[in-house]
Amino acid sequence: MKIAVIGTGYVGLVTGACLSEIGNHVTCIDIDEEKIETLKQRVSPIYEEGLTELLNRNINQSRLKFTTDYREGLQDKDIVYIAVGTPQNDDGSADLTSVNAVCKSLASHLTRDVIIVTKSTVPVGTNEYIKKEIEDRLVNDVTIKIASNPEFLRQGSAVYDTFNGDRIVIGAEEETVLDALEEVNAGFNLPIVRTNLRSAEMIKYASNAFLATKISFINEMANLSEKIGANIDDVAEGMGMDGRIGGAFLNAGIGYGGSCFPKDTRAIISVAKDASYDMQILENVVDSNERQRGIIVDKVKERFDSLEGMKVAVLGLAFKPNTDDLREAPSISVTARLIEEGAEVHTYDPAAMDNAKNILSDQVNYAVDIREAVAHADIAIILTEWQEIKEFPLDEYKNLMNEAVIFDGRNCFTLKEAENSGVEYHSIGRPS
Ligand code: UGA
Repeated sequence: MKIAVIGTGYVGLVTGACLSEIGNHVTCIDIDEEKIETLKQRVSPIYEEGLTELLNRNINQSRLKFTTDYREGLQDKDIVYIAVGTPQNDDGSADLTSVNAVCKSLASHLTRDVIIVTKSTVPVGTNEYIKKEIEDRLVNDVTIKIASNPEFLRQGSAVYDTFNGDRIVIGAEEETVLDALEEVNAGFNLPIVRTNLRSAEMIKYASNAFLATKISFINEMANLSEKIGANIDDVAEGMGMDGRIGGAFLNAGIGYGGSCFPKDTRAIISVAKDASYDMQILENVVDSNERQRGIIVDKVKERFDSLEGMKVAVLGLAFKPNTDDLREAPSISVTARLIEEGAEVHTYDPAAMDNAKNILSDQVNYAVDIREAVAHADIAIILTEWQEIKEFPLDEYKNLMNEAVIFDGRNCFTLKEAENSGVEYHSIGRPS
């Protein structure tokens, strides 16, 4: 098949590269000239494991191309994917500015019949809207068909997830469109769910909202476990062994972040509002997650009356390990509160330091490694469970800090390890 992918963010780029890897001819289109130039040089603007190899191989074999020119990119194409960002408006709804811009460009450049596939996460009903937006503006006499093919990729393991996902969801109103997309995706060898447009759009939101709910649920159970003397590690293990519950996404911590769960939970609440439905369960999940982000500083405040002038090491700034992304990361509100309380904050993250400097600016200090951050600190707070942080020996905290008091927001160490090392260790959902 000949395919165009519009948008070279982590979803579009990974989708384009993976579709070319299974034999399709793909051209990725983006309005960002610098990004396209970089990609033509086979350099990925984002870090995704395995992506550079895919770029090299498929560019070499002329199956993968990049352009900023819609006319060139759409030439000969049977299928066009839309994979641009849908950030959040102030009221929680999805911002469709980029989707609208793509609709306009497609309408003026399409010269042949195509299937348009939406990969971007969009509110229910948007695919019908996209079809109308393009059809109303079409310059040439062409027929467009529309499909929804939501992604379930995790940032950092997006290539792996594309080839090893649990399912591929395709939504369309015509069987012929579903057949064509099933053929495009056949090379991934994954179970395929065929459904209509609105159900496909809903599957994406419902899946992310469910995972966010699962995390908030285990966080609430952790908070209660602490109060009644249970240990959340054992509680989660015992719960997760029930196949109906499943053990994944039961790691208690300081809440979910990133560019997806916070945005998508709020977007589905906004969709529900528009449909005059009160989505109480997700309202509570959003509130619960907000509260959870503050819990680590609450613990510090319970232990120390005042943080004025104290040196606090903050370890891990990214919203999760193996990414440099700080979007909706708990570290932003945690550091802000520590500064407000008068603490002197020293931060370290294995990958997110450059992004952190843009967001946290000169309000905090930036250390070159864990050792420098915790040296002579009064308190160490762990916010992201990076392997490097998990492997940093607890004994070292004892050697380097004034008095080793650790608040671990991601339960990186077992209670036994903490006890053996003799540090003062506070974590989430476990007896102190
Ligand atoms: C998430 C979904 O996992 C993907 O399936 C989806 O495609 C993607 O959003 C999206 O909509 O594009 P991602 O945001 O990359 O992927 O990250 P996750 O690995 O799912 O983690 C999200 C957040 O939940 C992180 O802040 C993580 O620390 C937190 N989390 C995750 C927990 O607090 N506990 C857990 O047990 C699992």
